[in-house]
Amino acid sequence: MIVEVTSKHKKLPTQARGAKIFHWINIISLFLMLTSGLQIYNANPVFGGRSGLHIPPIFTLGGWLAGGRHWHFAAMWLFSLNLLWYGFYIFITRRWRHRFVGANDIKALQKTQNPKRLIYAWHRIVYTSIIPILLLALFTGIGMYKPAQFPWIVDMFGSWQGLRIVHFASVPLVIIFALVHWWLGKKAGGSQLTDSMFW
Ligand code: HEM
Repeated sequence: MIVEVTSKHKKLPTQARGAKIFHWINIISLFLMLTSGLQIYNANPVFGGRSGLHIPPIFTLGGWLAGGRHWHFAAMWLFSLNLLWYGFYIFITRRWRHRFVGANDIKALQKTQNPKRLIYAWHRIVYTSIIPILLLALFTGIGMYKPAQFPWIVDMFGSWQGLRIVHFASVPLVIIFALVHWWLGKKAGGSQLTDSMFW
């Protein structure tokens, strides 16, 4: 984060353009993945089969199973290529050194009395947790997309149903992450900080 001083001497947070582009594409592709995934789910709910809980159409995308699959597989490229270029970007620009959780965040959680420092520590822990969540969604998604080519991915989760359950878990995990990430960002720097990630 760079801090910009305005003419009124008020400090406003600003973000690198790369981080903004990543956030926009991520939010759009995750929205498409979530809603089209729930459309696929509705064809044969993971829990309880055809008589299981169905998701109301307002939260789904694609209209029917094949439509949902088309959206899911199209958005998958947007989602995974965005994750890939951002991985290179934070590696090359060495942003990963400041963004992700470190030993001093864990120490701060145990020792600090400073509430701001605690929020920063939690913010980085939550921020770091999304990387394995997104990679798990991608990994299990690849297993479901190409089971003939990657049968070992299906085997790793015990069965096709096990793989479906873990892939489905990305739905609540992504929603909870987005809410907590946004809330902590707001606590750390107000809506000026959260807005600066997009505009
Ligand atoms: C965070 C992002 C993602 C979310 C929230 C998500 C969500 C879902 C959901 C809810 C389902 C329905 C599960 C079921 O009923 O069995 C599903 C199915 C599926 N997803 Fe994802 N998904 C995500 C990312 C991906 C990615 C990155 C890929 C591919 C690399 C992928 C490939 C698939 C495949 C192949 C299916 C099964 C389609 C079918 O059976 O016709 N997903 N996804």
